[in-house]
Amino acid sequence: MPLTLWVNGAEHQVDVAPDQKLLYVLRDQVGLTGTKYGCGEGQCGACTVLIDGTATRSCLSPVAQAVGKQITTIEGLEKSGQLHPVQKAFLDAEAFQCGYCTSGAIISAVALLNKSDHPTDQQILAALEGNVCRCGAYPRILEAVRAAAAGRRG
Ligand code: FES
Repeated sequence: MPLTLWVNGAEHQVDVAPDQKLLYVLRDQVGLTGTKYGCGEGQCGACTVLIDGTATRSCLSPVAQAVGKQITTIEGLEKSGQLHPVQKAFLDAEAFQCGYCTSGAIISAVALLNKSDHPTDQQILAALEGNVCRCGAYPRILEAVRAAAAGRRG
């Protein structure tokens, strides 16, 4: 039986085992490769997507758990050619080097800012502590999330 997924507002039928991990389904069945495979063990955050607004490690999540929920990937943040404010803030702050972790970090930041308009630095660091950046762009990532939060307030 195909499973029905809602990804970035669009319906997708996928013919996969219910315990297949969501990361592989998004990349290999739905064709959205912005979500990255890093460790496959829930430790690096590269695979982070939103499921009903909550930042979720898709490398650990069986696809069946996402049925009936709204899945948002990095590709779903831009609307009508306009980057999401967090994407824009990451670009403006050059909050990346190789960029491999960037999708996951942006998704974690979006999840945080959806819950809190006024996050403290401590809250930003806590929300993104599971997103590993091997290039060490952490100060610029913090700067980007601060700027995105400030933009929402402004
Ligand atoms: Fe999922 Fe690393 S690939 S946390």
